[in-house]
Amino acid sequence: MQDLAKPQNPNFSSGPCSKRPGYELSALRTDILGRSHRSALGKTVLEEACTKTAEILGLPEGYRVGIVPASDTGAVEMALWSMLGQRGVDVMAWESFGSGWVTDIVKQLKLDDVRVMEADYGELPDLNAVDFNKDVVFTWNGTTSGAKVPNGDWIADDRQGLTICDATSAVFAMDLPWEKLDVVTYSWQKVLGGEGAHGMLILSPRAVERLESYTPPWPLPKIFRLTKGGKLIEGVFKGATINTPSMLCVVDYLDALSWVESLGGVSATIARSNESLALIEKFVAENDWIDFLAKNPAERSNSSVCLTLDTTPENVKAMVKLLDQEGVAYDIGAYRDAPPGIRIWCGATVEPSDVAKLLPWMAWAYEQVTAA
Ligand SMILES: Cc1ncc(COP(=O)(O)O)c(C=O)c1O
Repeated sequence: MQDLAKPQNPNFSSGPCSKRPGYELSALRTDILGRSHRSALGKTVLEEACTKTAEILGLPEGYRVGIVPASDTGAVEMALWSMLGQRGVDVMAWESFGSGWVTDIVKQLKLDDVRVMEADYGELPDLNAVDFNKDVVFTWNGTTSGAKVPNGDWIADDRQGLTICDATSAVFAMDLPWEKLDVVTYSWQKVLGGEGAHGMLILSPRAVERLESYTPPWPLPKIFRLTKGGKLIEGVFKGATINTPSMLCVVDYLDALSWVESLGGVSATIARSNESLALIEKFVAENDWIDFLAKNPAERSNSSVCLTLDTTPENVKAMVKLLDQEGVAYDIGAYRDAPPGIRIWCGATVEPSDVAKLLPWMAWAYEQVTAA
C-alpha cells in the first residue's frame, strides 16, 4: 500500500491552515514593510484590506469592515464587551469555541438575562427556539465538532436584538446571509490560509447604532474601544487601526484576497470546500468504520470536517501519528476538547485533489492500527 500517491501538500490543520496553492513569500508586496502603519501608504494598504474584503464578500451597503487586534477571539470579545447588556441574550454553544463565549457572557460579564442553549458535539441547539427580541450570540461553524448552522432561514428579519456571529471558519467557505448578521468576526488564518494575528470585525448599521446608543456599565480597555464621545471611531474601519498591526500579515492577507479574485470570487472558494466535503462523504458512505460527527448532512461543515472512527482513542492517535510520519497528513487529530476522532481541514486553500489522495491513506492507516 506504500505505493499509494501522497497528497502534494500534507497540511490539513485547521488554523493556521495550508497556504494557498502556488503561494510564495516572494510574491508579497514589500514596499510597506518597515514603514509606519500610520503613514499614507500604511493607511492605504490597511484600508485596501477592508474595502477589498467588503467587495469580495459582497457586503450590503453600510456594513463596515475593520481590522482589530487578537485574531478572531479579539474581534468577538470586542463585540461582546462593547454591545451586550442592553437587553437579554440567547447564546448558543455546540462545541468548544461557542462554550468559550458562554463563559464570557455568564461568568465574566455576569449578565442577568441570559439563556444558554447548548447541544452535544455533532448536534445543534433548537434554532427555532431563539428569541430575536434578545441579542443572539453563536458560531456559524463549530470548528471543533464540524457542525454548522445550515442557513440563515431561522434568523428573524424583524429582530430587535443583534445577531453576533463568530464565523471564523465559515467566511469564504460558506454562503452567509449578511443582511441577517449584525456582527461577524473571522481571522485570516482559516479559509484563506493567512497569518494569525488580527481579527476582522464586520458591523451592520444596526450594530453601529447599538454602539452609538448604548454604553456598557463596565470599564473597557483601550484595545476594545470602538467609540469616542458616543460616536463610532470610523477610523478603525478605514485603516486607522487601534494599535500597531503586522504589515507583513496584512500584505499576506491581500495576497490571499487576490487569489480569491483570481479564482472568480467567493463562490469559487465555497465550491472548493464543497468539492472536498463531497469526496469525504463518498468515502464515509463506502466505509463502515468511519462516520461524521455531525449526523445531519445539512449541518455538516465543509471546512472543518470532523469524523469519528470505530476504534479506540489510542488507535485514532496511532493513525494520526502514522499519517504524520508518512508525510501524508499533518495535524489531523480532533481538537483537544472534542470527542476522539479526525478533523480534516477542507478550507479553500486545501486542494480537493489532495483530499482525494489522503482518503485511501486513511483506510491504510486504519487497517494498520486495528490489525496490530
Ligand atoms: C469558531 C472559532 N472561534 C474562535 C476561534 C479562535 O480563533 P483565533 O485563534 O483566531 O482567536 C477559532 C479557532 O479555531 C474558531 O474556530
